Amino acid sequence: MNWSLKRWDFYSGFYDDLFSFERQRGRSIEIAALKPGERILISGCGTGLDLHLIPEGVEIDAVDLSPGMLDKARQKKRAARCQVMNAQQLEFQDAAFDAVVLHLIVAIVPDPLACLREAARVLKPGGRVMIFDKYFHGPGQPRLIRRLLNPLARWIATDLNTRTLELAAQVGLHVVHEESAMLNGMFRIARLERRTPAPGAAA
Ligand SMILES: C[S@@+](CC[C@H](N)C(=O)[O-])C[C@H]1O[C@@H](n2cnc3c(N)ncnc32)[C@H](O)[C@@H]1O
Repeated sequence: MNWSLKRWDFYSGFYDDLFSFERQRGRSIEIAALKPGERILISGCGTGLDLHLIPEGVEIDAVDLSPGMLDKARQKKRAARCQVMNAQQLEFQDAAFDAVVLHLIVAIVPDPLACLREAARVLKPGGRVMIFDKYFHGPGQPRLIRRLLNPLARWIATDLNTRTLELAAQVGLHVVHEESAMLNGMFRIARLERRTPAPGAAA
């Protein structure tokens, strides 16, 4: 197993102490406006830090590639079906979910477009995707400091300059709400909706 996968099992031991981001996660879930009876997917769920924020009566599937992270998610009080699965190649049927939560995952995976395409595919038409992440937001190029820090950030965990919203548009996910979440807008929250059939998905 290479470092890019192994690191998450290693990080699982202290992840919750460093990355709770309770307020930002709560804000994203609030914007999602989840309702009892809906079914959601948390893709790249990590240790399950979002689970307790999901309203009762919402059915949760949670997937992650790291068995270590998933073990922690299974210990959380809120019930969810937790499975080892690749967010870039989901094993769910088309149009299975009312919402997909993508918190701190799109900038992590080697192929962010595939991750977004799969989220769109498993989403019902009109369904929503919640993103809480760092991504490059704006015209032109990221600032020099972001470009210089990016190789180190990628080695540790994450790309700082993924053009997440542009990639999302390519798979039929349209931004309906977008806001700064923290660190002067480096971390952002976006609600996207699937208004058109996703590529490869049933209409
Ligand atoms: C920064 S953590 C975010 C975890 C969680 N979403 C959160 O908000 O705390 C990134 C997670 O993505 C998982 N991951 C990395 N590549 C993945 C992939 N291809 N498919 C599914 N999960 C993946 C890692 O194991 C890790 O748990």
